[in-house]
Amino acid sequence: MKVNIILSPNNVDDLYFTAKTTVVIDVLRATSVILKAFNSGAKEVIPVGSIDFAMKISVNSHGGQTLLCGERNTRIIEGFDLGNSPSEYTEEKIKGKTIILFTTNGSKAIVKAKYSKRVYIASFNNLSKMAEHLVSTKSDIEIITSGSNGVFCLEDTICAGALVKKMIEINPDIELNDVTSASLVLNEKFGSDINLMMKNCEHGLLLKENELESDIEFCSTIDNIPIIPYFIGGEIRVLANEIKES
Ligand code: MLT
Repeated sequence: MKVNIILSPNNVDDLYFTAKTTVVIDVLRATSVILKAFNSGAKEVIPVGSIDFAMKISVNSHGGQTLLCGERNTRIIEGFDLGNSPSEYTEEKIKGKTIILFTTNGSKAIVKAKYSKRVYIASFNNLSKMAEHLVSTKSDIEIITSGSNGVFCLEDTICAGALVKKMIEINPDIELNDVTSASLVLNEKFGSDINLMMKNCEHGLLLKENELESDIEFCSTIDNIPIIPYFIGGEIRVLANEIKES
């Protein structure tokens, strides 16, 4: 079993993922928000690569039970129902709804991996559950760290390192590429205080500048939502046996 980390979806083309098992990480904030949405009862999440496409599919689809969600420059997009802050995704607003999600990095990274055999959605919120599940697949794994505007970001790479560390604790024979080995070192260095790391990374400081620093608390919480969201046929759902006990 090999684990390969790709530091930005821009580093490879879509066909690279054909028939592979892929994990997408964007802890500030798309994949953390997706976990929160399912924990609040969302029916499914549809990640999209453009605002126009989000608008197009929101009209007369899914029985009118859709919410247009996402951000541009970290802020809610004009005409959307919700932005990209986990705190907006309450059960009252979300239960039973189809979430159409556009974000600067994370939703595009998920769409980029669309030719994969299976795409999983990971964040700190489902770290251990995801590590257990990935090892159980016995597949080689590609981890996409969404990054920021196409380049490396610290928080996603540390989350990937934390995920791989948990996988190795289960299966010590996992083979690593150099980027994966480097992510383990970064996690060793910064992983002891995820909240502090996220408050001081570039995107954390940008969220603070935009008065969104409170999102970091949820996004840096480990294992609070032990579910396995996966992307297939254009939609993200939760593996049936991982659904939250009601
Ligand atoms: C994203 O989640 O795609 C971006 O990192 C932007 C954000 O939500 O702040």
